Amino acid sequence: MSDKENKVKLSPEEKAAAREAARAERKERLTIVDDYTPLEPDPQYILQVNQLKKYFPIKGGFISRTVGYVKAVDGVTFNLRRGATMGLVGESGCGKTTAGRTILRLSGEKTGGQVLFNGREVYDMSPKEMRDLRTHMQIIFQDPFSSLSPRLPISDIIGEAVKEHKLVSKEEFNDYIDTVMDNCGLQPFHKDRYPHEFSGGQRQRICIARALALNPEFIVCDEPVSALDVSIQAQIINLLKDLQDKYKLTYLFISHDLSVVEHISDTVGVMYLGSLVEYGSTEDIFRNPLHPYTKALFSAIPVPDPTVKMNRIVLEGSIPSPANPPKGCKFHTRCANCMERCKHEAPVQREIEPGHYVVCHLYDDVASTTTGDVIDAKKAEVKEEPAAETAKDNGEE
Ligand SMILES: Nc1ncnc2c1ncn2[C@@H]1O[C@H](COP(=O)(O)OP(=O)(O)OP(=O)(O)O)[C@@H](O)[C@H]1O
Ligand code: SF4
Ligand SMILES: [Mg+2]
Repeated sequence: MSDKENKVKLSPEEKAAAREAARAERKERLTIVDDYTPLEPDPQYILQVNQLKKYFPIKGGFISRTVGYVKAVDGVTFNLRRGATMGLVGESGCGKTTAGRTILRLSGEKTGGQVLFNGREVYDMSPKEMRDLRTHMQIIFQDPFSSLSPRLPISDIIGEAVKEHKLVSKEEFNDYIDTVMDNCGLQPFHKDRYPHEFSGGQRQRICIARALALNPEFIVCDEPVSALDVSIQAQIINLLKDLQDKYKLTYLFISHDLSVVEHISDTVGVMYLGSLVEYGSTEDIFRNPLHPYTKALFSAIPVPDPTVKMNRIVLEGSIPSPANPPKGCKFHTRCANCMERCKHEAPVQREIEPGHYVVCHLYDDVASTTTGDVIDAKKAEVKEEPAAETAKDNGEE
């Protein structure tokens, strides 16, 4: 039989039903749900992020219509105390950078949710207010090589925005730049040199000095040490900590390196496919990780003791596309604990112990019956996959 004959013939009603189903599927793909309970400003937090969403449109067809969205950030909620550091971890492509940039309003308009900085919605500010806010919120990028203009001497790189925002008078300018450079471990004779004359660590110091010169309150550090040697990493981390103590800075610290995150952060958020799956104090998250994804991620942290056998949890498969995330719990396609309801019903964020939040059906009952107690993950019967024989990469880098 030919292919043509093999084709199942549909009745007109069936064709209409198929068309209707395709239409409904397209409509669902293009629908943006932006429902959240608005937050009241809370002065103890410098930053309040509520159900933040950032979708990038996917264009297709002859007239370049929007045919779908890359849901890079899809409902992120957390609060950040003044002077504290929040670590943001997760696999490559899970939306960490986009979350940081969206908080700073560096990625155009948000798709949904709220970002309150010092109690004010960042996305409601006028261009003038936004210009002023820029000095209060800064970002340090991963790559200190590409983020510095090769044509400008260091004094111009650090001082450009200071002049633009008229932060100090002309008379004070030179001394001000000297002080900022000194605080970042740079010498006055570095001022006239160009970026290519510096090592990677020194360039990152220049990037930090450029951010610090604007006297910010909040800095997004996007993998600030990933491109550096381990010995230099420690120097930069210590510099960031010293500056935080001195200037009462607040950091959102994005990193793949869980040991660094444990060292520098007060709270940690674990991201998967655009959403936070677990959030809490660093101690709680590292001592008692609850979400199956967090457990897998943390099981890869090397233990500096040869007698300790690592019980590494290897995740099967790769991270699904943020353009077409799985229905129900987004992690269900890779979760060893997946239950039938996980495939259809998205879990909600629950507070398991004070300040420790998890988004997983395993804790639905535990959360409602327990407040204040430390929850042992075993109570919720989290299955652990057998330890992997090899150090197979499970994608968490
Ligand atoms: N401007 C953009 N347009 C379209 N898609 C984008 C854009 N920026 C990011 N994305 C997509 O959004 C998703 C999240 O990207 P993002 O860079 O935020 O991830 P990440 O967690 O920072 O990854 P990494 O750890 O590799 O830096 C990715 O699928 C990425 O391809
Ligand atoms: S909700 Fe279900 S699939 Fe998702 S992490 Fe929890 S157990 Fe796994
Ligand atoms: Mg990134």
